[in-house]
Amino acid sequence: MADRQTEQTPEQQVEATRKAFEQEFERFARFTSDSNVKLLLNEAIAEERALSDLRTRLLGKKSDLAAAKKQIGRVAPDVRAAFGQLVQSVQADMLAAFDRAEENLKQQIEEARTARESIDVTLPGRRPPYGHRHPITILRERIEDIFVALGYVIEDGREIETDFYNFTALNIPENHPARGEADTFYTRDGFALRSQTSTVQIHAMQRRGVPIRMIAPGRVFRRDTPDPTHNPMFYQVEGLCVDRGITMAHLKGTVTEFLRRMFGPDTVTRFRPSYFPFTEPSAEFDFSCFKCKGAGCRICKNSGWIELGGSGMVHPNVLRMVGVDPQVYSGFAFGLGIDRMCALMYELDDIRLLFENDVRFLEQFE
Ligand code: DAH
Repeated sequence: MADRQTEQTPEQQVEATRKAFEQEFERFARFTSDSNVKLLLNEAIAEERALSDLRTRLLGKKSDLAAAKKQIGRVAPDVRAAFGQLVQSVQADMLAAFDRAEENLKQQIEEARTARESIDVTLPGRRPPYGHRHPITILRERIEDIFVALGYVIEDGREIETDFYNFTALNIPENHPARGEADTFYTRDGFALRSQTSTVQIHAMQRRGVPIRMIAPGRVFRRDTPDPTHNPMFYQVEGLCVDRGITMAHLKGTVTEFLRRMFGPDTVTRFRPSYFPFTEPSAEFDFSCFKCKGAGCRICKNSGWIELGGSGMVHPNVLRMVGVDPQVYSGFAFGLGIDRMCALMYELDDIRLLFENDVRFLEQFE
């Protein structure tokens, strides 16, 4: 009884092989019908591989079917033809089933690959997000445009300076507090981060000589603790005009015209006597508030005026420093802060917003 199994007739063995095939192939049967099974690419690839393994196991050299084929010559001659046909037909059924499933899976793989790579040309394109200019850049470019129209060149200075350019050439005495470590940043080897754009006056006159009309926008650095109205790094614009016969009237006319073009034709300018080492005489200038037109508001702190910058007639010592004869040439200079102007114009209550690089803030300008 125990080895009944092994006593199966060859026909029974072939039938058993067919049964085994039907059982194992069942999971692939869905790929032989016309049913529209749709697999993902990686699933289809995995199924195809499993199918190929099964084919080797059931139809390969070591398969039961291959063994049955070898039996054909050994069975009794009277049943040989029938047995041979049985084996053939089982094999043919199996081959057909494998081929159909394989073809189906290959096609699915092909389709999934094509779908993955195809482009829908009817879809609208994806627009890259536009960047825009920083509010300080917007303002700097407006200032540059106005001065270029007045015949000025734009100078680009350096941000790290020697004592000579930052102080000495600007007639700032040895013991002046601005030279101290408390006010100015120094590198370990004694260079200063420029604390004003006035340094560019010196470079420009040395390089271009006189007469000269130039503005120099750029960053300056001071040892200030950041707060809503201070930042240790900020932007200034320096202006310089040197020629024969330049007077304070030219300074006032130029600054007034600049402010009119900036804030509107009815802008009024006012000059107050002041002191700067590199100018004599010196003046600070204010302009009538662009918001309230001088009536008084929050922006101008109810004074009607907005303080903007410093100015004056270039000190003879400064001209001498760059080899210009103050008996022949005279000039005016001015300097103003871009960030401060920016904060006023856009009514920012904290100047530090300008350097936090928060897109939600920066997006609002242009
Ligand atoms: N450099 C000055 C400052 O940073 C501003 C200034 C004042 C510039 C008078 C000038 C000037 O050219 O003539 O406060």
